[in-house]
Amino acid sequence: MSITKEQIMESLKKVLYFPKGSNVVDLDMVDRLTIEGNKVSLALVYPQANDKNAHIVKDAAERTLKADLGESIELFIDTMSEQEAGRGPLGKVKNIIAIASGKGGVGKSTVASNLAIALAKTGAKVGLLDADIYGPSMPVMFGLNGERPGAKEENGKTKILPIEKYGIKMLSIGFFIEENKALMWRGSMASNALNQLFNDADWGELDFMVLDLPPGTGDIHLTLVQSVPVTGAVIVTTPQNVALADVRKAADMFKNDSIKVPLLGVVENMSYFSPEDCPDKKYHIFGQGGGQLVANEVGAELLGNIPIVEAIAETGDRGVPIALDDSTATAKTFNEIAKKIIRNVDKRNVEQAATRIVQIDPNASCSTN
Ligand SMILES: Nc1ncnc2c1ncn2[C@@H]1O[C@H](COP(=O)(O)OP(=O)(O)OP(=O)(O)O)[C@@H](O)[C@H]1O
Ligand SMILES: [Mg+2]
Repeated sequence: MSITKEQIMESLKKVLYFPKGSNVVDLDMVDRLTIEGNKVSLALVYPQANDKNAHIVKDAAERTLKADLGESIELFIDTMSEQEAGRGPLGKVKNIIAIASGKGGVGKSTVASNLAIALAKTGAKVGLLDADIYGPSMPVMFGLNGERPGAKEENGKTKILPIEKYGIKMLSIGFFIEENKALMWRGSMASNALNQLFNDADWGELDFMVLDLPPGTGDIHLTLVQSVPVTGAVIVTTPQNVALADVRKAADMFKNDSIKVPLLGVVENMSYFSPEDCPDKKYHIFGQGGGQLVANEVGAELLGNIPIVEAIAETGDRGVPIALDDSTATAKTFNEIAKKIIRNVDKRNVEQAATRIVQIDPNASCSTN
């Protein structure tokens, strides 16, 4: 007798997802169900990436299905986040790229804003989320200080509308608070506010969402990278050797077993000083080779070196990021970095897809995992 979809669903109704106090079928967590003879493959979809209960639920599903349908059934159960399954508020956001650093003030926000523009220039749909709750800088860097995002009603829920500028959809906590007030927020308030920017906003379809993280490796980082399916991280550093220990800490955070966010590369900022009137001259005032050293150390590619150029700071303060002006050497460097990131994201996505294909290889000898 062949196995039917109804039998599978009936059996899975006995499998509970404790955090929501119901079973995986009623919670609509079962996806991509295919049945071929006695081979059954399906995905269990969780609200967030890296759900701590995923293993328990998967084991329970395997046990229950085998008990109900017989030991001879071959099961291939995948685990994915709502975003990976194309569902939820970030369901149409293909890739989320976190811009991080160990130390503050190294140029994360400068890199995030210019990278977002360089990515958009390739024709990609780009969003930018300023996740620096304590020191949001995107409203200034995009010339949007004092602006307030609009809202719309959707299915009885209020959705925040990201502000669009230079072809990029943008949100920052800086749009909702008075300057310097966020510093008084406690951790949970900050995390809740961030959650709203992700989940209660109408991001729509995006190829890339660039996340400008606050400096360091604190609780807010952990909450964020655990609750949002980050595709990969870009680490920004300066050439000084002293930065290495901090960078290592940031890299370790992403590599942590419960997070497992791949590093897409390292950007060395403030690599050397280049006078405005003599752009070919390079003064390595902070030493040389630090970025490459960091990249080797954390096992990632050095994506590019950005010099100290007055125009980078000036355009940032003026709200017209330098990457908009393709006649500048800096814009070209950001274009190159964007291309390398796109390549590394594609590579990572292909690798991930390959693990999925291996998982449902009908010739595989192992029936689960
Ligand atoms: N390559 C550069 N050349 C000149 N100025 C730069 C460069 N990179 C960054 N800056 C300037 O340095 C300052 C700090 O940069 P930025 O705000 O991007 O750092 P950050 O790492 O985001 O800081 P924080 O840790 O506070 O979030 C800004 O005024 C910025 O304009
Ligand atoms: Mg910043």
